[in-house]
Amino acid sequence: MSGESARTPRVEVSPAAPEQAPVLANLLELYSHDLSKYFDLRVGPDGRFGYPLLPLYWQEETRFPFLVSLDGEICGFALVYRGSRISDDPDVWDMAEFFILRSHRKRGIGAAVAADVWRRFPGRWEVRVLEANVTAMGFWRSAVAAFTASARDDLWIDPQQQRRRVLSFKSLDERLARMEADERSRAG
Ligand SMILES: CC(C)(COP(=O)(O)OP(=O)(O)OC[C@H]1O[C@@H](n2cnc3c(N)ncnc32)[C@H](O)[C@@H]1OP(=O)(O)O)[C@@H](O)C(=O)NCCC(=O)NCCS
Repeated sequence: MSGESARTPRVEVSPAAPEQAPVLANLLELYSHDLSKYFDLRVGPDGRFGYPLLPLYWQEETRFPFLVSLDGEICGFALVYRGSRISDDPDVWDMAEFFILRSHRKRGIGAAVAADVWRRFPGRWEVRVLEANVTAMGFWRSAVAAFTASARDDLWIDPQQQRRRVLSFKSLDERLARMEADERSRAG
Protein backbone atom coordinates (compact mmCIF):
# COMPACT_ATOMS: atom_id res chain seq x y z
CA MET A 1 0.00 0.00 0.00
CA SER A 2 1.52 3.32 -0.95
CA GLY A 3 1.98 6.06 1.65
CA GLU A 4 -0.55 8.14 -0.27
CA SER A 5 -3.46 5.69 0.10
CA ALA A 6 -2.57 4.82 3.71
CA ARG A 7 -2.83 8.37 5.01
CA THR A 8 -5.96 9.63 6.74
CA PRO A 9 -8.16 11.83 4.52
CA ARG A 10 -8.16 15.45 5.67
CA VAL A 11 -11.64 16.88 6.19
CA GLU A 12 -11.69 20.66 6.40
CA VAL A 13 -14.61 22.83 7.46
CA SER A 14 -14.11 26.47 6.45
CA PRO A 15 -16.31 29.55 6.64
CA ALA A 16 -17.54 30.29 3.10
CA ALA A 17 -16.48 33.68 1.74
CA PRO A 18 -18.96 35.83 -0.24
CA GLU A 19 -17.14 35.00 -3.49
CA GLN A 20 -17.85 31.31 -2.78
CA ALA A 21 -21.61 31.91 -2.90
CA PRO A 22 -21.84 30.35 -6.42
CA VAL A 23 -20.15 27.19 -5.10
CA LEU A 24 -22.72 26.92 -2.31
CA ALA A 25 -25.53 27.69 -4.76
CA ASN A 26 -24.42 24.75 -6.94
CA LEU A 27 -24.22 22.37 -3.97
CA LEU A 28 -27.62 23.61 -2.74
CA GLU A 29 -29.09 22.46 -6.07
CA LEU A 30 -27.88 18.90 -5.42
CA TYR A 31 -29.11 19.10 -1.82
CA SER A 32 -32.54 20.36 -2.89
CA HIS A 33 -32.81 17.56 -5.42
CA ASP A 34 -32.06 15.04 -2.63
CA LEU A 35 -34.63 16.63 -0.33
CA SER A 36 -37.29 16.88 -3.06
CA LYS A 37 -37.93 13.23 -2.21
CA TYR A 38 -39.50 14.48 1.03
CA PHE A 39 -40.53 18.10 0.41
CA ASP A 40 -42.52 19.66 -2.41
CA LEU A 41 -39.50 21.39 -3.97
CA ARG A 42 -39.83 22.36 -7.64
CA VAL A 43 -37.44 23.84 -10.18
CA GLY A 44 -38.20 27.19 -11.78
CA PRO A 45 -38.21 27.96 -15.54
CA ASP A 46 -34.37 28.10 -15.39
CA GLY A 47 -34.30 24.46 -14.26
CA ARG A 48 -32.95 25.38 -10.83
CA PHE A 49 -34.46 24.95 -7.38
CA GLY A 50 -32.78 28.12 -6.17
CA TYR A 51 -32.18 29.10 -2.55
CA PRO A 52 -33.39 32.68 -2.00
CA LEU A 53 -31.95 32.89 1.54
CA LEU A 54 -28.38 32.30 0.38
CA PRO A 55 -27.28 35.99 0.05
CA LEU A 56 -28.43 36.58 3.64
CA TYR A 57 -25.57 34.37 4.82
CA TRP A 58 -23.21 37.26 4.14
CA GLN A 59 -25.60 40.01 5.22
CA GLU A 60 -27.03 38.89 8.57
CA GLU A 61 -25.02 38.34 11.73
CA THR A 62 -27.16 35.34 12.69
CA ARG A 63 -26.11 33.22 9.68
CA PHE A 64 -22.91 31.23 9.21
CA PRO A 65 -22.08 29.39 5.96
CA PHE A 66 -19.43 26.64 5.80
CA LEU A 67 -17.90 24.65 2.96
CA VAL A 68 -16.46 21.20 3.54
CA SER A 69 -13.56 19.74 1.62
CA LEU A 70 -11.78 16.43 1.65
CA ASP A 71 -8.10 16.61 0.76
CA GLY A 72 -8.81 19.97 -0.83
CA GLU A 73 -11.79 18.75 -2.90
CA ILE A 74 -15.22 20.21 -2.10
CA CYS A 75 -17.50 17.56 -0.64
CA GLY A 76 -20.32 19.32 1.21
CA PHE A 77 -21.57 22.25 3.23
CA ALA A 78 -23.28 23.29 6.45
CA LEU A 79 -25.45 26.35 7.03
CA VAL A 80 -25.87 27.48 10.63
CA TYR A 81 -28.49 29.88 11.96
CA ARG A 82 -28.60 31.58 15.37
CA GLY A 83 -32.15 31.50 16.70
CA SER A 84 -34.55 28.66 17.39
CA ARG A 85 -36.93 27.68 14.57
CA ILE A 86 -39.24 26.15 17.16
CA SER A 87 -39.43 28.68 19.96
CA ASP A 88 -38.60 32.38 19.93
CA ASP A 89 -35.29 31.74 21.74
CA PRO A 90 -32.67 33.84 19.90
CA ASP A 91 -29.67 32.10 21.51
CA VAL A 92 -30.20 28.55 20.29
CA TRP A 93 -28.02 27.38 17.38
CA ASP A 94 -29.89 25.75 14.52
CA MET A 95 -28.41 23.49 11.83
CA ALA A 96 -30.30 25.05 8.93
CA GLU A 97 -28.96 22.87 6.10
CA PHE A 98 -26.37 20.11 5.93
CA PHE A 99 -25.07 18.12 2.97
CA ILE A 100 -22.36 15.67 1.99
CA LEU A 101 -21.93 14.68 -1.67
CA ARG A 102 -23.08 11.15 -2.45
CA SER A 103 -19.62 9.99 -3.52
CA HIS A 104 -18.31 10.80 -0.02
CA ARG A 105 -21.12 9.43 2.13
CA LYS A 106 -20.99 6.67 4.73
CA ARG A 107 -17.33 7.30 5.55
CA GLY A 108 -17.86 9.25 8.75
CA ILE A 109 -17.36 12.63 7.08
CA GLY A 110 -20.82 13.99 7.96
CA ALA A 111 -20.42 13.08 11.64
CA ALA A 112 -16.95 14.66 11.79
CA VAL A 113 -18.20 17.83 10.13
CA ALA A 114 -21.24 18.11 12.40
CA ALA A 115 -19.05 17.75 15.52
CA ASP A 116 -16.65 20.37 14.17
CA VAL A 117 -19.51 22.81 13.57
CA TRP A 118 -21.07 22.15 17.00
CA ARG A 119 -17.72 22.79 18.69
CA ARG A 120 -17.38 26.12 16.91
CA PHE A 121 -20.58 27.38 18.53
CA PRO A 122 -20.77 26.40 22.21
CA GLY A 123 -24.25 26.66 23.68
CA ARG A 124 -27.65 25.11 23.09
CA TRP A 125 -28.31 23.43 19.74
CA GLU A 126 -31.42 22.19 17.93
CA VAL A 127 -31.27 19.83 14.97
CA ARG A 128 -34.65 19.42 13.24
CA VAL A 129 -35.08 16.27 11.17
CA LEU A 130 -38.01 15.10 9.08
CA GLU A 131 -39.09 11.72 10.48
CA ALA A 132 -39.68 10.41 6.94
CA ASN A 133 -36.03 11.10 6.01
CA VAL A 134 -34.81 7.82 7.44
CA THR A 135 -31.21 8.37 6.32
CA ALA A 136 -31.03 11.77 8.00
CA MET A 137 -32.72 10.41 11.14
CA GLY A 138 -30.15 7.59 11.40
CA PHE A 139 -27.34 10.01 10.69
CA TRP A 140 -28.30 12.76 13.15
CA ARG A 141 -29.14 10.38 16.00
CA SER A 142 -25.80 8.66 15.55
CA ALA A 143 -23.80 11.90 15.15
CA VAL A 144 -25.42 13.53 18.20
CA ALA A 145 -24.95 10.39 20.33
CA ALA A 146 -21.25 10.37 19.41
CA PHE A 147 -21.00 14.04 20.36
CA THR A 148 -22.87 14.09 23.68
CA ALA A 149 -24.47 11.67 26.09
CA SER A 150 -27.18 14.13 27.08
CA ALA A 151 -29.47 14.99 24.18
CA ARG A 152 -33.25 15.23 24.05
CA ASP A 153 -35.18 13.73 21.14
CA ASP A 154 -38.66 15.26 20.85
CA LEU A 155 -41.48 15.15 18.36
CA TRP A 156 -42.32 18.48 16.69
CA ILE A 157 -45.12 19.04 14.19
CA ASP A 158 -43.81 21.80 11.96
CA PRO A 159 -45.93 24.64 10.50
CA GLN A 160 -46.48 22.49 7.34
CA GLN A 161 -47.93 19.78 9.62
CA GLN A 162 -44.96 17.49 8.97
CA ARG A 163 -43.64 15.25 11.72
CA ARG A 164 -40.11 16.13 12.73
CA ARG A 165 -37.78 15.06 15.50
CA VAL A 166 -35.86 17.77 17.29
CA LEU A 167 -32.55 16.73 18.80
CA SER A 168 -31.58 19.29 21.43
CA PHE A 169 -28.31 19.30 23.32
CA LYS A 170 -25.53 21.51 24.57
CA SER A 171 -22.20 22.01 22.89
CA LEU A 172 -19.78 22.57 25.73
CA ASP A 173 -16.71 24.72 25.44
CA GLU A 174 -13.41 22.79 25.13
CA ARG A 175 -12.69 22.56 28.88
CA LEU A 176 -16.17 21.34 29.85
CA ALA A 177 -16.21 18.92 26.90
CA ARG A 178 -12.95 17.37 28.12
CA MET A 179 -14.39 16.97 31.64
CA GLU A 180 -17.53 15.32 30.23
CA ALA A 181 -15.45 12.95 28.06
CA ASP A 182 -13.33 11.99 31.11
CA GLU A 183 -16.49 11.30 33.09
CA ARG A 184 -17.91 9.18 30.27
CA SER A 185 -14.74 7.10 30.01
CA ARG A 186 -14.63 6.64 33.82
CA ALA A 187 -18.26 5.43 33.69
CA GLY A 188 -17.09 2.88 31.09
C1 LIG B 1 -27.30 12.70 5.97
C2 LIG B 1 -25.88 12.88 5.44
C3 LIG B 1 -25.37 14.27 5.77
C4 LIG B 1 -24.97 11.81 6.09
O1 LIG B 1 -23.61 12.08 5.74
P1 LIG B 1 -22.48 10.93 5.81
O2 LIG B 1 -21.16 11.57 5.63
O3 LIG B 1 -22.84 9.84 4.87
O4 LIG B 1 -22.66 10.40 7.30
P2 LIG B 1 -21.58 9.55 8.13
O5 LIG B 1 -20.82 8.64 7.22
O6 LIG B 1 -20.79 10.49 8.98
O7 LIG B 1 -22.53 8.66 9.05
C5 LIG B 1 -22.46 8.69 10.45
C6 LIG B 1 -23.48 7.72 11.00
O8 LIG B 1 -24.79 8.12 10.57
C7 LIG B 1 -25.59 6.97 10.27
N1 LIG B 1 -25.97 6.97 8.85
C8 LIG B 1 -25.35 7.61 7.82
N2 LIG B 1 -26.00 7.37 6.66
C9 LIG B 1 -27.02 6.54 6.98
C10 LIG B 1 -28.04 5.92 6.21
N3 LIG B 1 -28.10 6.07 4.87
N4 LIG B 1 -28.96 5.14 6.86
C11 LIG B 1 -28.89 4.96 8.20
N5 LIG B 1 -27.92 5.51 8.98
C12 LIG B 1 -27.01 6.30 8.37
C13 LIG B 1 -24.75 5.76 10.58
O9 LIG B 1 -24.99 5.37 11.91
C14 LIG B 1 -23.34 6.29 10.45
O10 LIG B 1 -22.44 5.60 11.25
P3 LIG B 1 -21.64 4.34 10.60
O11 LIG B 1 -20.82 4.93 9.48
O12 LIG B 1 -20.85 3.87 11.75
O13 LIG B 1 -22.68 3.38 10.09
C15 LIG B 1 -25.84 12.64 3.89
O14 LIG B 1 -26.43 11.39 3.63
C16 LIG B 1 -26.58 13.72 3.12
O15 LIG B 1 -26.02 14.76 2.82
N6 LIG B 1 -27.87 13.45 2.78
C17 LIG B 1 -28.69 14.37 1.96
C18 LIG B 1 -29.00 15.67 2.66
C19 LIG B 1 -29.66 15.48 4.01
O16 LIG B 1 -30.56 14.65 4.19
N7 LIG B 1 -29.22 16.30 4.96
C20 LIG B 1 -29.78 16.33 6.30
C21 LIG B 1 -31.01 17.15 6.28
S1 LIG B 1 -31.76 17.17 7.90
